[in-house]
Amino acid sequence: MIEYIRRHLGAKLFLSYLSVILVGAIVLGLSTRLTIPEAFNRHMGFALGTGQGMMQGNGPGRGMMSDLFSSFQASFNEALLLALLAAGMVAILVSLLLSRGVVAPVRAITAASQRIADGHYTERVQAAVKDELGQLAHSFNQMAEKLEQVEAMRRQLIGDVSHELRTPLTAIKGSMEGLMDGVLPATPETYHLIHQEADRLARLVDDLQELNRVEAGSYPLDIRSLAVSTLVKTTLKRLVAQAQAKRIELRSDIPGDLPPVLADQDRITQVLTNLLGNALQYTPERGQVTILSTQHGDEIHISVVDTGVGIPAEHLPHLFTRFYRVDKSRSRQAGGGSGIGLTIARHLVEAHGGRIWAESGGEGQGSSFSFTLKVAD
Ligand SMILES: Nc1ncnc2c1ncn2[C@@H]1O[C@H](COP(=O)(O)OP(=O)(O)O)[C@@H](O)[C@H]1O
Ligand SMILES: [Mg+2]
Repeated sequence: MIEYIRRHLGAKLFLSYLSVILVGAIVLGLSTRLTIPEAFNRHMGFALGTGQGMMQGNGPGRGMMSDLFSSFQASFNEALLLALLAAGMVAILVSLLLSRGVVAPVRAITAASQRIADGHYTERVQAAVKDELGQLAHSFNQMAEKLEQVEAMRRQLIGDVSHELRTPLTAIKGSMEGLMDGVLPATPETYHLIHQEADRLARLVDDLQELNRVEAGSYPLDIRSLAVSTLVKTTLKRLVAQAQAKRIELRSDIPGDLPPVLADQDRITQVLTNLLGNALQYTPERGQVTILSTQHGDEIHISVVDTGVGIPAEHLPHLFTRFYRVDKSRSRQAGGGSGIGLTIARHLVEAHGGRIWAESGGEGQGSSFSFTLKVAD
């Protein structure tokens, strides 16, 4: 019995109603027992006009009065009992109705959560009511939607990663087979080719690890007040050799009176390195790459502008999505990465509370990548 009550919301509701009714009845019974004799006495006394209570007086009415009182009390008790029964019935009815209204949505949510746990992420519950249960169903649906998105992203990521891994692996395997069968000559070029593909694999794995770190946000930001020129200088130092190799003119244009910015030096240097690395990669020999910085209110804009291959407008919004490349074969030939660099840059800039975007006049018109940082005050 106790176990049944423990397990059923309806039984609990009914018991709570019943206890309220019983307490009410007991209080009513007790208080009437205490007050009625006195009150009856007083009212009847006044009614008979003697000015005296019926049970004190010695008048002839005394016996009759006491009979009257006991029949009054009996009828009162009877009425109380009837009211108690009626209230009990109503309690059963109301608790049944209410528990159905409460239990049904709870059951629906329980069933849905079990289906989701089994991997059916499209499961949702219908929320017809607007009370707390309706809100519960609503937030449950929101959670289910989030889970569905995460699951879709996980699938997409695994698909993308396997695809990215397959390309260099196929190349390595093909070359090795060619070598073994004697179809490919065992020349330094062949070994160089194989080494290059292995290198791609290693870079991809490094990029993925870095992407994983920034997407999880599991890195501390060491935000300080920094001069933009310091950030730019550090980046230029890293990439000057690469620019010289392609005979690209590398310039920076940072106004001397530019206020310092709030930034994590290593992270923003990484962003600049990714942008500058791309600019050098996608700019043909003897081109120009410039780093600019300007102040806009309490924001500093830093841009990397190149005179390179440019980007058709329809690709601009997607560049910061992982694995996105404008032209996969071109990016491969150009020794390009896997389309993760800009995604990492976006995460790092957004972690600083900034924005990052790309602009280009189109194919062959060069490109410009900009991001914002907050002015330190
Ligand atoms: N400066 C640039 N000029 C032209 N295209 C660029 C430039 N920077 C990035 N892109 C395009 O954006 C894509 C994504 O860049 P990124 O995330 O760094 O990946 P990748 O590893 O290919 O460099 C590149 O594949 C390229 O198509
Ligand atoms: Mg890149």
